[in-house]
This record gives sequence, structure tokens and C-alpha cells, in this order.
Amino acid sequence: MAKPSFLLSFMFALLFATSGVILSAKYSNITNDQSALLALKSHITHDPHNLLATNWSTSTSVCNWIGVTCGSRHHRVVALNLSSMDLTGTIPSQLGNLSFLGWLDISHNNFHGSISIQLAYLHRLKYLEFGSNNFDGEIPSWFGYFAKLQQLYLYVNNFDGVIPSTLGNLSKLEALSLGENQISGRIPNSLFKCKELKFLSLYSNSLEGSIPAEIGNFTLLESLVLESNYLKGEIPMSIGNMNFLQLLVLDTNNLTGEIPPTIGNLASLQSLFLYHNKLTGEIPHVIGNLTSLKVLYLMDNKLTGEIPSIIGNLTFLEIIDLENNNLTGRIPTPPPSSQWYGAPNNNLIGEIPSSICNCTSLTGISFYENNLEGTIPKCIGNLSSSLMVVRLGNNNFHGQIPENFAKGCMLKGFSINNNELEGSLPRSLGNCKGLNLLNVGNNNLNDTFPSWLGNLDQLQVLILRSNRFYGQIESFDITVSLTKLRIIDLSHNNFSGYLPTFFFEHMHAIRGEYGKKVDPNYMRERNITKVATEVNYASGLSITAKGLETEFQILLSIWTVIDLSSNRFSGEIPKILGDLHLLIVLNLSHNCLIGPIPSSLGNLSELESLDLSSNKLEGRIPTELKNLGFLEVLNLSQNNLKGPIPQGKQFDTFTSDSYMGNLDLCGLPLSKNCGTDEETPAKFDRDDDDGDELNWKFSILMGYGCGLVLGMSMAYIVFTTGKPWWLIRIVERVRQRFAKR
Ligand SMILES: *[C@@H]1O[C@H](CO)[C@@H](O)[C@H](O)[C@H]1NC(C)=O
Ligand SMILES: *[C@@H]1O[C@H](CO)[C@@H](O)[C@H](O)[C@H]1NC(C)=O
Ligand SMILES: *[C@@H]1O[C@H](CO)[C@@H](O)[C@H](O)[C@H]1NC(C)=O
Ligand SMILES: *[C@@H]1O[C@H](CO)[C@@H](O)[C@H](O)[C@H]1NC(C)=O
Ligand SMILES: *[C@@H]1O[C@H](CO)[C@@H](O)[C@H](O)[C@H]1NC(C)=O
Ligand SMILES: *[C@@H]1O[C@H](CO)[C@@H](O)[C@H](O)[C@H]1NC(C)=O
Ligand SMILES: *[C@@H]1O[C@H](CO)[C@@H](O)[C@H](O)[C@H]1NC(C)=O
Ligand SMILES: *[C@@H]1O[C@H](CO)[C@@H](O)[C@H](O)[C@H]1NC(C)=O
Ligand SMILES: *[C@@H]1O[C@H](CO)[C@@H](O)[C@H](O)[C@H]1NC(C)=O
Ligand SMILES: *[C@@H]1O[C@H](CO)[C@@H](O)[C@H](O)[C@H]1NC(C)=O
Ligand SMILES: *[C@@H]1O[C@H](CO)[C@@H](O)[C@H](O)[C@H]1NC(C)=O
Ligand SMILES: *[C@@H]1O[C@H](CO)[C@@H](O)[C@H](O)[C@H]1NC(C)=O
Repeated sequence: MAKPSFLLSFMFALLFATSGVILSAKYSNITNDQSALLALKSHITHDPHNLLATNWSTSTSVCNWIGVTCGSRHHRVVALNLSSMDLTGTIPSQLGNLSFLGWLDISHNNFHGSISIQLAYLHRLKYLEFGSNNFDGEIPSWFGYFAKLQQLYLYVNNFDGVIPSTLGNLSKLEALSLGENQISGRIPNSLFKCKELKFLSLYSNSLEGSIPAEIGNFTLLESLVLESNYLKGEIPMSIGNMNFLQLLVLDTNNLTGEIPPTIGNLASLQSLFLYHNKLTGEIPHVIGNLTSLKVLYLMDNKLTGEIPSIIGNLTFLEIIDLENNNLTGRIPTPPPSSQWYGAPNNNLIGEIPSSICNCTSLTGISFYENNLEGTIPKCIGNLSSSLMVVRLGNNNFHGQIPENFAKGCMLKGFSINNNELEGSLPRSLGNCKGLNLLNVGNNNLNDTFPSWLGNLDQLQVLILRSNRFYGQIESFDITVSLTKLRIIDLSHNNFSGYLPTFFFEHMHAIRGEYGKKVDPNYMRERNITKVATEVNYASGLSITAKGLETEFQILLSIWTVIDLSSNRFSGEIPKILGDLHLLIVLNLSHNCLIGPIPSSLGNLSELESLDLSSNKLEGRIPTELKNLGFLEVLNLSQNNLKGPIPQGKQFDTFTSDSYMGNLDLCGLPLSKNCGTDEETPAKFDRDDDDGDELNWKFSILMGYGCGLVLGMSMAYIVFTTGKPWWLIRIVERVRQRFAKR
């Protein structure tokens, strides 16, 4: 023990001797503090709220200055707190003259530059917080010489290099927070000398190597946050030595092996985040020992075996997410205080336990993509005063959708697609005024168009595809406020009548009338200065909700789809469709549509996919479609179109498949030449008459009936085989296009 501290004092002596500025507290006074602060003020280049400009005036004592605290006994500056003042500037060396300073917080500003100047003279410093600024360069190794330092917060900056091994000298260090920087290398062994450490947060860096077994030397540690690095290897058994651990965050690394059984020793553990690794084996039954556990996140691993039923005994457990593993067996009884209960993308069998009806705080239930069967518990409706997300798609549920969604229903997302549900869509869903997403696609529902949907002004995604919905939609005469609707998929039903023009009129989200698009930047916000457990606990649910939204992540912000294909819609394509400027996918194929392709479709400048195939559209392909600069997929086949195919731009990329089975199209990529005077409109009008007649014959000959589904349409392929290449490509392109904006 004597050795390091001797070394430390030696280093200090060296520092002071070589610095040329020897300013011990003894020989300085408040005037020196004032000039140090004025030096800082002069290094601030932008102070938008004028906080320092007038307040930091020499006409009053520095002790009255904003952000400054003086000691009551010796009347010297002991604390400086300039947090969250929107200041821009650099740190002057004079700051090191504040020789009584114990507390320095300049977090959440725009201070920048590398910390090249030595502040190590601040030898009384106990607390240093530089988080959420723009500092760069390496973390100076002399940070290890603040002999009394207890808390060091450098999170959310651009620090690079390695963690200086000198930090191991900070024998009083209780909190070290370096998250969200670009720090690389390994966790230095010297760090394990910091025996007082209670809070260690190194998340979102580029740390590599394995988690050293010495981590267990941090026997006082309460929070360990190492997520989003490149750590690999197994979780060391020694983790079980950290008896006070409340928060263990190791997600988003490359950790392998099993969850160590010593985890059962962590009686104080409240939050366990191991998701997004490569963990194997079973969820250890000793998890039943974690009687304080509130959040359990194990998704995106390779865990096998059954979910230990003992979790049902953990009275504080509120959030369970086991998504995307290889878990088998039945769903155990949920813990009584469950708020989120989910294990989507596993191999679970059996029914949803009726005990779920006892979870009156449930906000989300998510067992999407398993092999579950039976009926959907009726109590789902009763729970809807707390329930926000129901995700039970891709299972084998049968029977009716529960009916009793009460007034004040909180549901935001309801997806029960790809099951064998029958009957009608419960009218009581109209009580769920905040509904964002309704996906009942691929069931056996038999109903007319749910006109009560018109009241749901938060609805963004409506998917009724592949059911037995029937009847006309135009009679839908109640107030329509589908202003946020971005995705409407009514395909593969038996809807008839005209296309629902009034829908298109009200789809303000797709019309681009909100001006600003949603920022597709799903950065997680964090506030490490808060007690870490609180932060992560509070964000627990939102992480789950965000993970959940991967299903329609892009959907909600930028993905816009109108798919009315494979129904019996008739009449013309309304011109007003051309007003839906943000539309990305338009599919009206396999209907009974007549008349021309409106030239207004050329205004759909974001369109990536246009499918009007298998209708009875006639006339020429409007040259305005050449304006569709992002068009990736075009299908106009099986119509009665004629005349020249527009040439140039995107049209050079389509093959003859796009035009097959039309009456009289000509020009590339078809082999048929248009002839020399094909551009003469007069000639075309003449041709048109012949064309109509021919068209008739053609239709009769081919036995085209409206609403007849010919083979497998693209949409059908998407749904049965997952995502075809072109959809993936489009999704990627769209993501990139919008990410750049
Ligand atoms: C502070 O110290 C300086 C010399 O370092 C001296 O000139 C000044 O008078 C002192 N001021 C007070 C208030 O003691
Ligand atoms: C500076 O701000 C502090 C805290 O808001 C206030 O108490 C003090 O009166 C202000 N001084 C001047 C000179 O504005
Ligand atoms: C520092 O200032 C920030 C912002 O005004 C405030 O939230 C925080 O509590 C202060 N810290 C201390 C220790 O006073
Ligand atoms: C404060 O620090 C600066 C730079 O480190 C030094 O030049 C100056 O003499 C020191 N003393 C005072 C009283 O400002
Ligand atoms: C960690 O603890 C072990 C045993 O308690 C001890 O032998 C070792 O020196 C410690 N490591 C460090 C880096 O302090
Ligand atoms: C995990 O390992 C793979 C392959 O070695 C690598 O491509 C990937 O970036 C790593 N991911 C993380 C989060 O470390
Ligand atoms: C589980 O807890 C019990 C009683 O608290 C204890 O005896 C046992 O050692 C613990 N098991 C593990 C694996 O930690
Ligand atoms: C779990 O709780 C049930 C019912 O309260 C009880 O019968 C069972 O013994 C408990 N299991 C364990 C391992 O404590
Ligand atoms: C999941 O487990 C089953 C056996 O239970 C195994 O056959 C299958 O390959 C596993 N799948 C993955 C993706 O690991
Ligand atoms: C719900 O809780 C009550 C009281 O704890 C219990 O009697 C009942 O069996 C539970 N119901 C289900 C379905 O688990
Ligand atoms: C749909 O329901 C109606 C009335 O309930 C019934 O007459 C009709 O046969 C059903 N259609 C199908 C396809 O099940
Ligand atoms: C972070 O948390 C601290 C303590 O709770 C609070 O004072 C501060 O305002 C928070 N900062 C942000 C950016 O939310």
C-alpha cells in the first residue's frame, strides 16, 4: 500500500516543480479565484443566454456569481457549476488556480478542444464532470493525480485513445463514467486497484478484449455499464462477488458462453441487461434468487431451454424481454407486477397462461412469432386501460378477437396478424383512440370495412390484408381524420366499388403537409449523472418499446404504402393520388380499374414501387412518370395500355416484364418498334378506337375477370416468404435517403 501512495506524492512533487506555477492555497486568496474565473469567462466564445456576461462582474464578489459557491469558513471558491448553460468555449489553464475547488461541473455545454492544460493543481477536487461537451483527444494521464477525486464524469464527448492506467491511482474513486466516447483498447488492470468504485460506466466505446476476472475485485460496485463495445469471451464467474450490484449492463457486445450461475448471488440486482450478445445455454434457474430484480433483458442471444417458471415468483419483476432466442416450452405464469411480458421470435408452444389476466399493470404483451395456439384471452380487452401493446402475430391462435375494449382503452399497437382468427373486427377497438398500428392481416376475418376507424386520428398503420373483408368503402361517410395514416394495406380481400378517394384526401401524412419529416435517428438518450439504477430502470420500458418497433421502425417515420391490390375495386384511378407526395409504395394491381393512368402520378416524387398490373387501364403511359426519380419497381403488365413506353431516366432500368400482356405498347425494352411517326397524337387517337375494340376481344379471350387473383402477386410473396430482395433493397435505399436529410 505504501508504494503507490509514495509514488503518487512523488508524481505530485514533480508536477508542481516542473509546472513553474506554484500556487498553494496558503499564498492565494479570493482575488486569485476571481482572476481564474475571469480567465474562464474570456475563453467563452458564445453565451446565448447572457448568463455570465453581466453576472460575472467584478463589481460584486465572485461568491455571488452565478454557478459559483464559496466555502463558508475561508470564503474561497469551492464549487463551480456551469452545467447546462449552452456555453461554448475552451478551458484555460488559469482554472487550475482555483486551489480550493472541490466540485467542478461544466457538463451539458459545448466546451471543446483537447484537455492539454494541466488542472492537476486542483488537488482538493473531489468531483469533476465534463460530460456532454465536445472535448476530444486523449484522456490526460494526469487525471490520475487528483488524489482526492471521488467522481469523474467524462461521458458523451469525443475522447479517444485508451483508458489511462494512471486512473488506478485514484484510490478514492467511487464513480467513473466514460460512456459514449471513442475509447479503445482493453480495460486496464490497474483500474481494479480502485477498490472504492461503486459506479463504472464505459458504454458505447470501442473497448475490446474480454471482461477481466478481476472485475470481481470491485466488491462495492453498484452499477457496471459496459454495453455497446466490442467485448468478447465469457462473463466471468467473479461477477458473483459484487454483492451490492444493482445494475449490470453488458448488452451489445460479443459475449459468449453461458450466463454464469454465480449471478444467483447478486441479491441486490435490479436490472440485468445482457441482450444482443451471443450467449448460449439455458437461463439459469438461480435467477429465482434475484428477488430485487425489476428488469430482465436477454433478447437477441442464443439461449435455449425453457423459461424458468420461477420468474413468476419474483415479486418485483416488471419487465421481461426474451425476444429472439431459441427458447422452448410453455409460457410460465408472469410475475404479478409484470408491465412488459415478452418472448417474441422463439419456439414457445401452448397457450397464453390465463394468469396473465391477474397482471393489472401490464402495458405490453409480446409473443410474436412463436408456435402458440388456443384463443387470445378475453381479459386482454379488460386490461386495455393499461395495455398499450399487444403483439401476438405469427402464431396459430384461433377463435374470435376479444371484444371488450373499454372506453379509455390505451392500446397503441395491436398486431395479431398471421393467425387463424375469425369473426369480425371488434367495434370496441374504436375506444382505443390512441391506436397507432392495427395489423390483423392474414386471418379469416369476415367483416365490412370498419368505418369506426375514421375516428382514430393517431392511426399510422392499418393492415387488413388477406382476410374476407367485403363491401364498398365509399359509403364510409363519417368524419374522417386519418391524418397520420402512412400505411394502408387492404389487399387480398373482397372490397368492391370505387377506390376510397376521400381517404387519399385526408392522408395528410403522405401528402407531406406536415412539412417536417420525423427524424429517423433513434438515438437513445441517457443521463448518467442521475443515479444509474434510476436511469436504466426508467428507460427499461422504452428500450423494449423501441426494440419492438424494429418491426415498423422505418414504417412509422418514413415508410408510406398504399396497397389496395387484389380486390374488386372498379372505376378510374383518382387524380388526387398524385397529391400524396411522400408515397413510397403504390399497389393497385389485380382490381378492375379502367381509364387512363393519371399523369398526376408523375408528382409522386418519392415513389419506389408502382404496381398497376392486372387491371383494365388504357391509353398511353404518361411521360410524366419519367419524373419518378427513385422508381425501382414498375409493373404495368396485363392492362390495355398502348403507345410508346417513355424512354430515359428510370425507364431505362425496367425490363419487358414491366409491360407484358398489354394491348399495344411499343419501344424499348419491348422488341416492337413504334415506327417513325408514333409521336403524332392524331394518329394515336385513331389507334385508340381500334385499340378499345381489340382490348375487348383480348379481355374476353384471356378470360380476365375483375378481382380474380392471378397466381402469386408480389404482395403475396412478401407476406409468405418474408422479404423479397427488392423490398429489402427499397427499404435500405429509403433508409439511406432519409438518413441523409
Ligand atoms: C490577494 O493576494 C494578492 C497577492 O497575491 C494581494 O496583492 C492582494 O492584496 C490579496 N487580496 C486580498 C483580498 O487578500
Ligand atoms: C448573478 O446571479 C445570481 C444567481 O442567479 C444572483 O443571485 C445574483 O444577484 C446575480 N448577480 C448579478 C450582479 O446579476
Ligand atoms: C448544477 O447545475 C445544474 C443545472 O442548473 C443543476 O441541475 C444541478 O443540480 C447543479 N448541481 C449542483 C451540485 O448544484
Ligand atoms: C494562474 O495560472 C496562470 C496559468 O497557469 C498563471 O500564469 C498565473 O500566474 C496564475 N496565478 C494567478 C494569480 O493568476
Ligand atoms: C484482485 O483481488 C485478488 C484477490 O482478492 C488479488 O489477488 C488481486 O491482486 C486483485 N487485483 C488487483 C488488480 O487489485
Ligand atoms: C462481433 O464479432 C463479429 C465477428 O467477429 C464482428 O463482425 C462484430 O462487429 C462484433 N460485434 C460487436 C458488437 O463486437
Ligand atoms: C440462492 O439463494 C440461496 C438463499 O438465499 C443461497 O443459499 C444460494 O447459495 C443462492 N444460490 C446461488 C447460486 O447463488
Ligand atoms: C414459487 O411460488 C409458488 C407459489 O407461491 C410456491 O408454491 C413455490 O414453492 C415457489 N417456488 C420457489 C422455488 O420458491
Ligand atoms: C433451436 O433449437 C433447436 C432444438 O431445440 C435446434 O434444432 C435449432 O437448430 C435451434 N435454432 C437455432 C437458430 O439455434
Ligand atoms: C389470480 O390471482 C388470484 C388471487 O391471487 C388467484 O386466486 C387466481 O387463481 C389467479 N388467477 C389466475 C388465472 O392465475
Ligand atoms: C361472412 O359472414 C356473413 C354473415 O355473418 C356470412 O353470411 C358469410 O357467409 C360469411 N362469409 C364467409 C366467406 O365466411
Ligand atoms: C440529468 O440528471 C440530473 C440529475 O437528476 C439533472 O439535474 C439534469 O437536469 C439531467 N440532465 C438532462 C440533460 O436531463
